[in-house]
Amino acid sequence: MCGIVAYIGQKEAYPIVLKGLKRLEYRGYDSAGVALINNGLQVYKKKGKVAELEDHVSSKDMRSHIAIGHTRWATHGEPSDRNSHPHVSGNGKLAMIHNGIIENYAQLKQELLSKGHTFKSDTDTEVLIHFIEEIQQNNNCSLEEALRIALKRVVGAYVIVIVDEDHPDTLIAARKGSPLVIGVGKGEHFLASDASPIVEYTKEVVYVNDYEIAIIKADELILKNISNEIQTPYIQKLDIELAAIEKGGYDHFMLKEIFEQPQTIFDSLRGRLDAKKGILTIGGIREHAEMLSKAKRIIIVACGTSWHAGLVAEYMIEELCRIPVEVEYASEFRYRNPVVGPGDVIIAVSQSGETADTLVAIESAKQKGAIILGVCNVVGSSIARLSDAGVYTHAGPEIGVASTKAFTAQLAVLCLVGLKVAMLKGSITEQRFQHLLDELENIPEKVAATLKLNDRIKEIAAKYKDARDFLYLGRGYNFPVALEGALKLKEISYIHAEGYPAAEMKHGPIALVDENLPVVFVATRDSYYEKVVSNIQEIKARKGKVIAVITEGDQVIPGMADDIIVVPEADELVAPIISVIPMQLLAYHIGVLKGFDVDKPRNLAKSVTVE
Ligand code: M6R
Repeated sequence: MCGIVAYIGQKEAYPIVLKGLKRLEYRGYDSAGVALINNGLQVYKKKGKVAELEDHVSSKDMRSHIAIGHTRWATHGEPSDRNSHPHVSGNGKLAMIHNGIIENYAQLKQELLSKGHTFKSDTDTEVLIHFIEEIQQNNNCSLEEALRIALKRVVGAYVIVIVDEDHPDTLIAARKGSPLVIGVGKGEHFLASDASPIVEYTKEVVYVNDYEIAIIKADELILKNISNEIQTPYIQKLDIELAAIEKGGYDHFMLKEIFEQPQTIFDSLRGRLDAKKGILTIGGIREHAEMLSKAKRIIIVACGTSWHAGLVAEYMIEELCRIPVEVEYASEFRYRNPVVGPGDVIIAVSQSGETADTLVAIESAKQKGAIILGVCNVVGSSIARLSDAGVYTHAGPEIGVASTKAFTAQLAVLCLVGLKVAMLKGSITEQRFQHLLDELENIPEKVAATLKLNDRIKEIAAKYKDARDFLYLGRGYNFPVALEGALKLKEISYIHAEGYPAAEMKHGPIALVDENLPVVFVATRDSYYEKVVSNIQEIKARKGKVIAVITEGDQVIPGMADDIIVVPEADELVAPIISVIPMQLLAYHIGVLKGFDVDKPRNLAKSVTVE
């Protein structure tokens, strides 16, 4: 949610910042802006995508060795030129970009209005830069000192970066609750919300911690805490390659990421699973595995697609470990004052590791004494850092806003965790344990076989792309897959879609069924199969159009469904990793056929860092 990027060094700053904004556009794309110093402070901003900003400045003199840039996902104030970042202080000397929310901005704004400040935008960000300016003038102090004083009053989450016309050799940045990475080059520094704009220039990075302020010159990086004490920057090596954040010949990141899944699932299992030797090793939870196996209950908190992965994990863990599992929307869990405390294990599932709802939920559960286990994709992310133990999913950078490869990697990792705990607990037989290890090991190959159905799925997409609504149904392990299928379709094709447990459909949604309603059944062969067949008949009896994802060898459903997608056979516990692939491809093709930008669906952002 909002991407920030900045550069200071010997090179031309604007091209670097512009390229960085394009890489970060997945975080928000309703407007963009840059500020640089060239005969004074110059600020350019434009509603729309980064390309529109690029056109807007094409005839301007953009030369500068310092620049900040921002791509926005609107929170305070509609997407417009005037609400775009950077925002400028009243004296026109300071420009600031911001990711996050200043919760007490209304109160600060009131104070500033009474002191004669006027505002050009509706944003909390403009209030903050005026507040900093006010402190600087009243105290006759440096910008750094004014920022420190201001941040002590600020409630909320932020990463901010400021340029000051009077100090064109310095960038000042601060972080609380939103991510900030600083790339350390030779005589230059790069700042960004994540490493993707940095990786092509340097692999040495510093992750700024909460409540730290960074004072950055071309050849100097000073980190201080909010009490003005110097902190030693911890330089880490980036482990991503440039190819991982480029499209690599695919039309869209989403398609590239769908097709990467045989490899990403393999990567999430690599070094952890050795089916031939019957060994399962999860380093990240080694010290907590025993405690996990004794947990009285496990609570999984997550949002969106990660929440769907949590639902599958509920089925897996309850079956394998016989431990009660609750799956909670992070946003609801936090605010309903849940009964949670010592003895509870919370599993936080998050691709980005920055989702504010999930982060806040685990913060409060941790304070109450629960143990937090993080299942994150982004290494070093806030949720990963807050967790007591964790398992990375190793799916690589996910750029498409609609989550795909992160989901299957989450399922693979959550299955490993369930198996590990079951083994320690003795709640699984040796044969079943070995069978599931074998099944997991074979999954990448089966996913690769499923991806060969791409052309067939594209034909089905063309047939149904003009439908007004879709219903997605499944039972058992395939129920969350139905939910995920509906979410994918909604997100990128803007078609209304509902996911439901197939049996629950007759308690209401069946009223929607007529000859115009496509109903996608996730109907692979499992212990619910016969019941699902009955549910398909109920839909057909009302003339609904049935698209069924079935297991190879199925002789029954092909005679009932309008369209079938035949996937490889797998144990029901791991089958969702396969059956979700057609869901992803169907949504992708419908979105593309309808002419939408599937990598940047309207109103969404990749990483939702506000509550
Ligand atoms: O980064 P997270 O996994 O915590 O993100 C959670 C949701 O915001 C995310 O899954 C969202 O629903 C995606 N748009 C799904 O495609």
